[in-house]
Amino acid sequence: MSHKKHKKVVLFASGSGSNVQKICEYFQNHQIIKVTHLYCNSSKARVLEKAKAFGIDYTLFNKAELLDSDKVLENLLKTRPDLIVLAGFLLKIPKKITEKFSNKIINIHPALLPKFGGRGMFGINIHKAVIDKKEKRTGISIHYVNEKYDQGANIFQKEISVKESDTPQTLSKRVLKIEHEYFSKTIEKILNGGK
Ligand code: GAR
Repeated sequence: MSHKKHKKVVLFASGSGSNVQKICEYFQNHQIIKVTHLYCNSSKARVLEKAKAFGIDYTLFNKAELLDSDKVLENLLKTRPDLIVLAGFLLKIPKKITEKFSNKIINIHPALLPKFGGRGMFGINIHKAVIDKKEKRTGISIHYVNEKYDQGANIFQKEISVKESDTPQTLSKRVLKIEHEYFSKTIEKILNGGK
C-alpha cells in the first residue's frame, strides 16, 4: 500500500481572514497538503471563527510574545511545518523565526513589490497610496519572507490595471479577488516543487 506523506501548512493571520477562508476551502480535501494550524495575534480577529469552522487548531499570542519570547518559535519548531503562510498578517516576523525557517515562509502583499511595501503599507493604506501616485497598474505579490519587511525574493506577481474611477475601496476589492484566485494555487505549486 502506498503511503503519501502529508505536507503541513500553517497560517499566520491578524484580520478578517478572507484569504484564510479560501486557503482552508482549497485544501480541505487535498490528498497531500493539509492546513493544520493558525497563529493569530488578536483574540478579536474574525479569522479565528473562520479557522474554528474548519476545525483548525490555533495559537494566540501578542506582539511582545512574538518578539521578546520564544513562545511562537518553539511552537513552530514542534509543529515542523513544510510551509508557513502569512495570509493577512500585519506584524513583522522576527529574525529568530525567519532564520530557522529560511525559504519556508511566504507572504501575500496587495501591491506590486518593491513598490508600496514596508512599514505602514498594509490594507487600505496601500490602495490609497497607489491612487495618490496615479499608478496605472497595481496587483499582488507573493514572496518569501526574510528579516527585511516585504523584501524577500519574489515568487509570483499578478497585475491589474487601475481605472480612473477607482477608489481605494474598489481597488482593494479587485485586488483581494486576485489574491483569492492565486494564493492557494501558488502554495500548492511551491509544495509540489514548483510544478
Ligand atoms: C490582504 O489584502 C493581504 O494581502 C493584506 O491584508 C489583507 C488581509 O485580508 N496583507 C498585507 O497588507 C501585508 N502587508 P484578509 O484578512 O481578508 O485575508
